Amino acid sequence: MARARATAYRDLAEQFGTPLYVYEAEVLEETYRALRRALPEQVDVCYSLKANPNVSVCAFLHALGAGAEVSSYVELRTALRAGVAPEDIVFLGPGKDARDLAACLDAGIHAVVCESLDEVARLDRLTAERGGRPCSVMLRVNPAFQSRGAGLAMGGKPRQFGIDEETLQGAGSFLAGLPHVRLKGIHAYMGTRFLHHEDIVGNTGRILQMADRLAARLGIPLETVDFGGGLGIAYFDRDPDVDLAALGRGITENVERFTRRHPGCRLIMELGRYLTAMSGTYVVQVQYVKESMGELFAVANGGTNHHMAAVGVGSVLKRNFPIRHLTRSGDPAPRPYTVTGPLCTPDDVIAKRVPLPEVRPGDLLGVERSGAYGPTASPGLFLGHGFPAEVMTYRGEAHLVRQRDTDDDLLAKQRLVELHTLHRTGEVPGGGP
Ligand SMILES: Cc1ncc(COP(=O)(O)O)c(C=O)c1O
Repeated sequence: MARARATAYRDLAEQFGTPLYVYEAEVLEETYRALRRALPEQVDVCYSLKANPNVSVCAFLHALGAGAEVSSYVELRTALRAGVAPEDIVFLGPGKDARDLAACLDAGIHAVVCESLDEVARLDRLTAERGGRPCSVMLRVNPAFQSRGAGLAMGGKPRQFGIDEETLQGAGSFLAGLPHVRLKGIHAYMGTRFLHHEDIVGNTGRILQMADRLAARLGIPLETVDFGGGLGIAYFDRDPDVDLAALGRGITENVERFTRRHPGCRLIMELGRYLTAMSGTYVVQVQYVKESMGELFAVANGGTNHHMAAVGVGSVLKRNFPIRHLTRSGDPAPRPYTVTGPLCTPDDVIAKRVPLPEVRPGDLLGVERSGAYGPTASPGLFLGHGFPAEVMTYRGEAHLVRQRDTDDDLLAKQRLVELHTLHRTGEVPGGGP
């Protein structure tokens, strides 16, 4: 993979300040193209904006050929603004409200992926009230089978996502009584952070078989099946990267078997982390280096407030993301540093006892493989630090793709209550009788 030189990060830090997220578009491009080459042609790739909802990241992936999977009103607007055609957008997620559903109808997206039978009925009513064309719906199924190897399982267990397979099997007449929705097919997403191709291929095969069974049982057409994905990234030592070639071969076998029975069916793989993680580096500047009871700390100006994933959420043991010294990379004598951020909590640790060349105040450190679930999946407002700037680099040029939050941005939404209005007597709290 193309990787920017440390000097490039130093220039970017000077130009845009720190903390800073840098997305290398060449890496996005290589990753997308490699995945595309591995997958059979019949499979459309939809980019899951939740991994990185930056409009420029979405637009770049779309320019390479990706559709979009969105899970909120703003993500839908982002995908449309990035130029994704409504026909290439699916909207899923629990808890969609009336505005979300209406926006899907207005935009005419490929399908609303319904997570419950009640949601299908609600869409049916909403479409009827508006007197428009029937709304395209896919049914998200929580399969009866479980899968192995997920970092976080989303299906095959009691979950708020999808309709239990068993429930759906008995829902044929209920669905037949909803004339304003057009059932297009089946969706299932088993989980995220799968690292072994066998597990992803196994999920794909079982989801396609389940879609086949359910469509026959419910008497619905199979125009589209979205079989999820959940491809992980080797963040930590000894983790393997997904074997793309083997993944491609396994998926192709399953897809060929399926398309013999359903030749015109559109197949979708939706994924976010795999497409964006490798392109991103979180750049922080060390403010202080100190020792506490024998442990060496590099205290930086950014931490888990922008990069919650680096704390190792869901892991029993703290494991480090790959981290690089961007100021003194050639130094031969590494020492173990615990890299922390500006928050007043001992959990604000982005790397624990990681061997680094000598770190001094002012130095830059880069947390790599950080292009997915970064700022937007982090408590960016904690202590009022706000969100960092985001920059996309391509062919030697840097483009600011998100402005850093300013102090005014952070303060502007707060309202100072007129304290005397809290008391009918007009007395100020604490003012005494
Ligand atoms: C339904 C669904 N689709 C897609 C994704 C994106 O997953 P990933 O970033 O692992 O590819 C998620 C992540 O939680 C999800 O829940």
